[in-house]
Parts: sequence; C-alpha cells; structure tokens
Amino acid sequence: MAAGAGGDPLVSDSLVKELTLLFSKEEIAETVARLAQEISADYADKSLVLIGVLKGAFVFLADLVRHLTIPAQIEFIRIASYGSKKESSGEIIVTKEVETPLEGKDVLVIEDIVDTGLSLQFLIDHLRSKNPASVKVCALVDKRSRREVAVQVDYTGLTMDDGFIVGYGIDFNEQYRALPEIFVVD
Ligand code: IMP
Ligand code: MG
Repeated sequence: MAAGAGGDPLVSDSLVKELTLLFSKEEIAETVARLAQEISADYADKSLVLIGVLKGAFVFLADLVRHLTIPAQIEFIRIASYGSKKESSGEIIVTKEVETPLEGKDVLVIEDIVDTGLSLQFLIDHLRSKNPASVKVCALVDKRSRREVAVQVDYTGLTMDDGFIVGYGIDFNEQYRALPEIFVVD
C-alpha cells in the first residue's frame, strides 16, 4: 500500500515521497492497548505522571491514555538537538519544560521512537534531576539496531531495524503526522 503520492492534498508537493506501509492501524491499536494494560497493572498504586515528548508522541499519548484504567497526570516536554547528533549528546536542550513538580512522582516518558538513544539518555538524566520516585520509558517504536548509547526502554511497542518512518504523529520535515498508520519513507 502506498500513500502520499502526487496530488495528496494533505502534503505539500515538494515533500511528496513514496510511502510503504509498515504498521497498520490494527497493529498499532493492539500495541497501544497492550502497553496501556501493562502500565495500568504496574502503576496501580503509584503517582503516575506521563510525560509526552513533543511533537512526535502526541498521537500515541492521546490513544494510550484512553486505554489506561488508572489515574495519570499528563505533561509534555520538548527538546531540540543542535549540530550533528552523532558527535555529541551535549547539544540537546529543553525547549518546553514540564509544568508540574515531579518530586516523589512516578514518571513515565512517552516517546515516539528510540533511535540512537541520545535523546532519551538526555531526557532521563534531565528528569531524574527533579527527584521523582522513578523514571521509566515507554516507546512506541524501538529501532534497536541503531542504538549508540545503552538506554533502557521499559515498555516497547513495536520494533524495526533501519529505515525512516512517518505517520501516527511522526513526521518528515513536519509532514505526514496526521496519517493514521506508520509508513517507511523510501
Ligand atoms: P535518538 O536520539 O537518535 O534516539 O532520536 C530519537 C528521536 O529522533 C525520535 O524521538 C524522533 O523524534 C526522531 N526520529 C528518529 N527516527 C525517526 C524516524 O524514522 N522518523 C521520524 N523521526 C525520527
Ligand atoms: Mg522525538
């Protein structure tokens, strides 16, 4: 199945790419429901704060919270990396900070994709400095073979090897976030 071909009114012409379906709506929905079930069981007696990493995790977080059977606070954070990702993780900065104290809370970072792991490593260190009771990670897509730093993903949705993906909140040059499935950009 292909999408994003010429004439697609949702995508500006200069950014039209060939897209190949990787994860269907059904596969994503089953995955999100499973993750929500695991999280609901593990955090039943905790003070859960979900921290969605903008912008890519916004659709995932929105679907995930509607499957939770326990209370959770919802926060967002946004980071930006400057320079070449491969050179250093020291060039990551927070551009939108969480807006609630995290002291004593059980923080669960909600990420779209873990690739090299550099963003997540930065985020975990940053959030730990706010003295939460715990910091864990839930990622919709894990590109394990691309990892450059060892970071623990506690709740993993889907796995893939190489390739650049879009859809379900995930972008290429700010395009394709609204697609309901996940595609590989060829
Ligand atoms: P990392 O720091 O290399 O792990 O990069 C993780 C971040 O890079 C993700 O949260 C995404 O925002 C972005 N990213 C990594 N791979 C992709 C992709 O295939 N499509 C879109 N964004 C990606
Ligand atoms: Mg991201």
